[in-house]
Amino acid sequence: MNNGKTICTVCNYIFDEQLGEPRQGISPALAFGELPDTWTCPECNSSKDMFQPCSCVSLHVYEMSCVRPTKDKTTTAAAETFVGADLLKQPVGQLVARDPKLACVFEQYEIDYCCGGKSTLEEVLSKLNLPPEEFLQKLKNVSAKRTDECEKDWNKVSLKELTEHIVEAYHVPLRTELARLQKLVNKVSAVHGKAHPEVMQIESVFRSFKEDIELHMQKEEMILFPGIANVEAGRQTTFGCGGSIDHPIEMMTQEHEGAADALEKMRTLSNNYTPPNDACDTFRVMLHSLASLELDMHQHVHKENNILFPRALSMAKSQHQRCS
Ligand SMILES: [Fe+2]
Ligand SMILES: [Fe+2]
Repeated sequence: MNNGKTICTVCNYIFDEQLGEPRQGISPALAFGELPDTWTCPECNSSKDMFQPCSCVSLHVYEMSCVRPTKDKTTTAAAETFVGADLLKQPVGQLVARDPKLACVFEQYEIDYCCGGKSTLEEVLSKLNLPPEEFLQKLKNVSAKRTDECEKDWNKVSLKELTEHIVEAYHVPLRTELARLQKLVNKVSAVHGKAHPEVMQIESVFRSFKEDIELHMQKEEMILFPGIANVEAGRQTTFGCGGSIDHPIEMMTQEHEGAADALEKMRTLSNNYTPPNDACDTFRVMLHSLASLELDMHQHVHKENNILFPRALSMAKSQHQRCS
């Protein structure tokens, strides 16, 4: 459904056909498709191919996923080192770990950079049949954008600080959101389940997802994260029957895959979070919230799988080598 709005996936600027763009002398009622091919975003100068039709879901998703450009002209270190590297050979999770802005492009193409973060860019592009040159150019364009550096470089902070950030920025809000969403999903299923049986399936998938992820976060907070802090502090730490940190990390990584499967199932059941024609506001809010939940989980799991866990494993390994 075309609502006349098209969003820049780099900076979130919205071209609204009803408003036009006075700064560029574009009067209202000119469709986005009628803009010349040379037209660029008035905020960040991105080309037309970085825009996509703007639904309420995509707007929210991109608001959350994109690092906004700022008026100040600071270039991140990540952007400077990014250009010229052999990107195709690198795991996609590591690309996002080095430059979080790239998550926008991966989200746009539905490329899994969290649980599937170990696949190289070359592998994912060939699986999706995407021409590498074009895709690489997009990555480089986005990487070269200036940012406000609101996101820290999580490769450089202490592991303790990173785990505290994960708990505060993801675990705490997720618990509140899951409780809110559970009520919403129950309500939509009770009211619309007959006409839309897929909502009843979503309700069932959501219920187990909620139970599993709540338990998962509890294990991370009570066992794994304190264990990682111990490793960082140089204290000997054992898990279970004298095992190393590899085991709980392996378990958590597997549980992330289970969570990703559940989210994928809900996305498929809801036809990519598309509201049916007869959807009421509550139905739409539920889909919107599920889309946000998925994006938030991508960022949360990405920081654990691609930054926290590899750093903790390598720290534990060098500690072990020093001791033996
Ligand atoms: Fe977590
Ligand atoms: Fe986790």
